[in-house]
Amino acid sequence: MSRTRSRDPQTAAAPAADAGLSPLPGGLGWTVTSRALATRLLGDQRLGVLEPQPVMSHLATKLPAELHPAVREITAFAERVMLQTGHDRHMVLRRAFGGFFSADAVTARTPGLRADAEHIVQRFAEAGGGEFMTAVAFPYAVRTGARLIGVTDEEYRRLHKLSQQLALVAYAARLEDPAEAVRAGRAALVRIRETVTAARTAAPGTSVLGAWNAGAIDLPDEDVEANAVMLVQASLETVGGMLGNTAVRILGTPGALADAEQRERLLDDALRAEPPLKTLERVVREPIRLDGHELRPGQIVSVRIADANRMDDDPVAGRALFSFGWGAYRCLGARLARHQARELFAALHRIAPDAAPAGEDSERIRHIRFDMPRRLRVTCTAPPSADAAALTRALTEALEEDDLDRPLTSLEREVTYVVLKEHGVTVPEDLRGPTTIREWVTWAISAHG
Ligand code: HEM
Repeated sequence: MSRTRSRDPQTAAAPAADAGLSPLPGGLGWTVTSRALATRLLGDQRLGVLEPQPVMSHLATKLPAELHPAVREITAFAERVMLQTGHDRHMVLRRAFGGFFSADAVTARTPGLRADAEHIVQRFAEAGGGEFMTAVAFPYAVRTGARLIGVTDEEYRRLHKLSQQLALVAYAARLEDPAEAVRAGRAALVRIRETVTAARTAAPGTSVLGAWNAGAIDLPDEDVEANAVMLVQASLETVGGMLGNTAVRILGTPGALADAEQRERLLDDALRAEPPLKTLERVVREPIRLDGHELRPGQIVSVRIADANRMDDDPVAGRALFSFGWGAYRCLGARLARHQARELFAALHRIAPDAAPAGEDSERIRHIRFDMPRRLRVTCTAPPSADAAALTRALTEALEEDDLDRPLTSLEREVTYVVLKEHGVTVPEDLRGPTTIREWVTWAISAHG
């Protein structure tokens, strides 16, 4: 973003934009574009996150009384979301969910991330490539997010759509028919609850819903429910965007896909220059005087992340990256997100080492909040497809064993991995099932044939 120098009449005399602070039109608030101001303001308790109550109370004044209970119900749900909750409650909620995102928890998830990455990339490679965002980035974000939360891919997608519909209620006061938006939001909330309740009992113990079901999250049910749904919102466009932006850099730099260090550096560069979430929004709670300006209660402060990330003229906070937020509300999923990216690009290197952009310029989405490619066509050589007879022959020869039903030793298992790989089949590290040649061939054909 350019550092805008347009001024509204209130601040016309002040050099606000030059200091990284620019007024929004109509006295609505301020945009922040410098590292120094971003760190200062995001750590200032006189600024708070946007809580639902004021907006929803205003909305209620535009609605008939019969819709007030629906507004209260939606408000009660939204108020429990950690990113929309004031300091003290926020700490409690954040602590209760922190265990899912610790270094150990992410390490424990890594084999699953790897298997999911390999599965999705394998399909992509077999098709000779395709559109990376819809065939790789989003399906992988969905799959990994769904596993963390403990829902199926389909339930995750449904929850994402429904929670978007619910979030629209916050803008209902500006719509022609706010009552209709509230009715639709309330219907979405009912379906969200049904989906979560149905998924909860079937969820694996390592997932958020599974831990909740086992009584391992020390919070009221309503808190867990609202924040589990928030995790769906938090993990789709952000992760999809990060993967798309990083793919443009890695696949567009000759040799980078094969070099783990370069991949890591380009992931950082992408996060810094194209943060998937463009802004951090706060609201002024108590007056703040800043370089001759007054930030008034109720005004919005919008930090432009890409600008705050730039290290050219502001030696502030080392190499700190604002793409995952800053301060008390910094992204809980940051470590997990980076691991997701690492595993995906490592899998792409193993399975489709010649993956490259298809030559067209990638098209970017135009969105007020998100920054990512709209489309990114990638080509790669399709790996040889698994053929049952050829695989059986290759395995019996390599293992010098004609008995297809004898359980293999651990050494033979290692040889099997290598033979399968030569036939374009990558075995996920945590796969435990097949023990005999026949079972391996059956697995390879059903997983990859
Ligand atoms: C590249 C991927 C991601 C990006 C760029 C990203 C970005 C962000 C940002 C900027 C914030 C702070 C918002 C604010 O202060 O207003 C945030 C908060 C949060 N993110 Fe992420 N996020 C990513 C992935 C994830 C994932 C995968 C999860 C979990 C599955 C997650 C969970 C959260 C949560 C729970 C918060 C709220 C933290 C709090 O309120 O204390 N994020 N994220």
